[in-house]
Amino acid sequence: MRPPDSAANATRVLPFDETGIACAATLVLGGQPVAVPTETVYGLAADATNPDAVALIYAAKGRPSFNPLIVHVPDLTTAETLGVFDAEARALAEAHWPGPLTIVVPARTGNGIAALATAGLATIALRVPAHPAMQALLKACGRPLAAPSANASGRISPTRAAHVLASLNGRIALIIDGGATERGIESTIVAATGDGLRLLRRGPILVDAPLSSGVQAPGMLASHYAPQKPLRLDATEARAGEYLIGFGEVAGDSSLSETGNLVEAAARLFDLLHAADQAPQSRIAVAPIPGDGLAIAIRDRLTRAASPRSSTETDSSS
Ligand code: TXA
Ligand code: MG
Repeated sequence: MRPPDSAANATRVLPFDETGIACAATLVLGGQPVAVPTETVYGLAADATNPDAVALIYAAKGRPSFNPLIVHVPDLTTAETLGVFDAEARALAEAHWPGPLTIVVPARTGNGIAALATAGLATIALRVPAHPAMQALLKACGRPLAAPSANASGRISPTRAAHVLASLNGRIALIIDGGATERGIESTIVAATGDGLRLLRRGPILVDAPLSSGVQAPGMLASHYAPQKPLRLDATEARAGEYLIGFGEVAGDSSLSETGNLVEAAARLFDLLHAADQAPQSRIAVAPIPGDGLAIAIRDRLTRAASPRSSTETDSSS
């Protein structure tokens, strides 16, 4: 699909200073993703409470599938409004935040985070970054920021503004240049979801916890939201007993986007899968989602949702 209109021109690069952060905050509050350095790698940050803004992250990255994203917050107090921290999780946060550690905890219900940011999961990955640029942006926006690494899908993570530019020029409106990142590799990810700590991704912070089997590489996710009910793809009308998720001209019990808008469809995908699961019908059908770009990511997710359950799903790396 086309890049968003406001990013259709060349990407601007501004130094990390007051003007740069003010400009970045205006874009983020207007629903656009912007690239900003953290102490690990450059992130592509968007308002985590705005589903369309989160969908634009995937559009800019050209990512063929939806991974759950890390939600960045300014401090532990804010993190505790979004997720539920037990004693172990809180101790870990107090020892390493702000810093290159991400903690996966149960999500607080009604926390306002877009379902696309967490890929519809009941857990949420939270991080309090140490980098002053990301901290300044968090404070200027007053919103939690979802941010994967700021590279096109399949490319390596960027540690300089020039890497971001080479990968995403013309696809995002702004890069804040804060120089080379200090750590150069993505944050350590630890799950604290009630059954003891588990290491999901190795990184700069060494945590003494068992490596979670089957989730050793980021993106190897058995945990994506999968509907309970059988799902039929490319449906142009509902059969008996089916809840139809429509798109474009195919009207359904609900619609991913009546106008066929892919950003809107991505933003609504996990919400509608949940709604379909809770509907009285015993099966789910989904209209065809033609096109490339985000359409590929949506079809990828739906194909996984439609296929028989396996213990691990291999996702593309982020
Ligand atoms: O250092 C970093 O972590 C950088 C900077 C920008 O903060 N971000 C980053 O994001 O590396 P990303 O999207 O490239 O990797 C995030 C990974 C996902 O691939 C997924 O494996 C994991 O975080 N993740 C997110 N939410 C999760 C959840 N609820 N349960 C398990 N894993 C989760
Ligand atoms: Mg990545």
